[in-house]
Parts: sequence; C-alpha cells; structure tokens
Amino acid sequence: MKHLIDPTDLTLADIDGILELAEKIMADRPAYAQVAKGKKLATLFFEPSTRTRLSFEAAMLELGGSVIGFSSADTSSAAKGESVADTARVIEKYADIIAMRHPKEGAPLVASMNVDIPVINAGDGGHLHPTQTLTDLLTIKETKGRLSDLTIGFCGDLKFGRTVHSLIKQLSRYENIRFILISPHELQVPDYIKEEVLVKSGASFREVEKMESVIGELDILYMTRVQKERFFNEADYIRLKDSYILDLNKLKKAKDDLKILHPLPRVNEIAVEVDKDPRAVYFEQAEYGKFVRMALIMKLLGLSIEE
Ligand code: CP
Repeated sequence: MKHLIDPTDLTLADIDGILELAEKIMADRPAYAQVAKGKKLATLFFEPSTRTRLSFEAAMLELGGSVIGFSSADTSSAAKGESVADTARVIEKYADIIAMRHPKEGAPLVASMNVDIPVINAGDGGHLHPTQTLTDLLTIKETKGRLSDLTIGFCGDLKFGRTVHSLIKQLSRYENIRFILISPHELQVPDYIKEEVLVKSGASFREVEKMESVIGELDILYMTRVQKERFFNEADYIRLKDSYILDLNKLKKAKDDLKILHPLPRVNEIAVEVDKDPRAVYFEQAEYGKFVRMALIMKLLGLSIEE
C-alpha cells in the first residue's frame, strides 16, 4: 500500500489493520503523540472541506507531526494555471505525505503517478472518497460490532455521491451485505457501480424511491445531501433537493438498533430533532474520521510505536 486513491487499493487485511490501529489509538492516545515527529503532511484542497481537511490536520498534529497546505484552489498557483502534476512534484520537496481533494475525477491519481511520497485521495469530484469509507467502516464496526450480515440503506443523491460509491465498493467485499438504494430516479447509483461492483460481486441490492417503504428493514441508514455543486441545472437541484427529509416520525417504523450515518455536511435531509435520538451517530462518525486518518498516516509512512 503506497497510495490510497481507490478504496479497493486496500485489501481486506489492510482495512482490518487500519481499523485495529485506529482502535488502539482511541484506547491510548498519549502513546501515539510523538510517532510522526519530524514528518510533514501537505493538505492540498482544491475544493471546500471542513471535516476531511481539518481531521487530517488534527490527525497529523495528534501524531506529533506538522502540516502545510492550502484550503482552496484560489490561494494556490492552480489559479495561475499550474497543473496537478507540477503542483505534486513541488510539494514532494516540502512534505512527506499528501492528502488531496480536487473537483476533477482522477486528479489525486495523476498526483500519485508523479511523486514518490504517498498520496491520499481526499475526494475527487463525484468519483470516490476512500478515507470517508474508512471512517464509515470504523463507525459501523464500533456501533454495530460487525462489518458483515447487514442491511444498509443509502438514501439521497446516489448519482453524484462519492461517499456512497466508495462505501458500496468496499462493503460489497464483505459477507452477506444487502443494499437498498433509496433515491429519485434521476439520482440513482450510476450504472458502472451497479454493473461493475454490485452485479459482479453478487451482492443483493434493490432500488426504491420511498424511504418509508424500507426503513423498517435497515440495520444502517446512510443519509446523503443532494449536492448543489454537482448540478449543471439549478432547476433540477431545486426540484430534487427536498426529496428526503428524515424526521422522528419516519423513524417510528425503524429498528431500535438502527444506526444513522451521514458523511456530513447536512443541509436539511436530517431534521435537527433526530440528533438526540440514540440511533443518530453522524457526529461520532466525524470523530472516528480523525482516528482512522491517524492510523492511515501511520500505515502509509511506515510508522509504529514500541509495544
Ligand atoms: N464528509 C466530508 O467529506 O466532509 P467535508 O466535505 O467537510 O470534508
């Protein structure tokens, strides 16, 4: 494992190793406080972010390392026309590891092909978001106690939702996962995910339009935002943006041990009243994101502590 560009760059053993290390870090944070001393993480964010960028930065600082970077394309020389490849070649001289978010699918892959230091895809357009996937897996493991034998409903924008594509890719490798894909027709999971991932893996899946018709079957409900920034036509966004709003009334039909995940940010697709329901775990999920990124940085840099 040199880079993390696609969730399937990781074997199931790699994932187990990262999740186990994240659990060890959570159990004894002081033990890891100096493990990345002298190492630098560069966060190259060409697209807005709160959780991913700041959890990467918090992760590196908690490991005793330091952080450089930029939080928008406007404040980098990309605004002057510099290519991703050239940017990465230069940053390689300044840092030991790169986390890159970019609006164009494939940009982190291009960076990884031009440098010798590890590159992590922190989200590329509507394509993939593998560190959110690790975050989601850790959240599911911690809150459900297992990563197999689950019925998971993905709800909202399944067409442009890179977190959804990444998590489907990864979960389809585990045993006995049943996928229920809840979206308006226009925002269904792309055909390449259905054909290349779901059909090929033999996973059970079905597509529905109404959340109420399936909520009682779910072990995990993965809510997503309808992403304004991915629409070419504002009228389509306005028509689809309120397709699903999860509230306490809809949750009456759900299992008591359902877990509600959301990669965040939320707009209005989960009513604030749901936040205090014990089944809502999306803010814990954001915290797990920091620990799993600490573990990933350690793995990619080959760092360990004496045990
Ligand atoms: N989940 C996620 O990627 O959030 P940000 O866009 O705030 O990084």
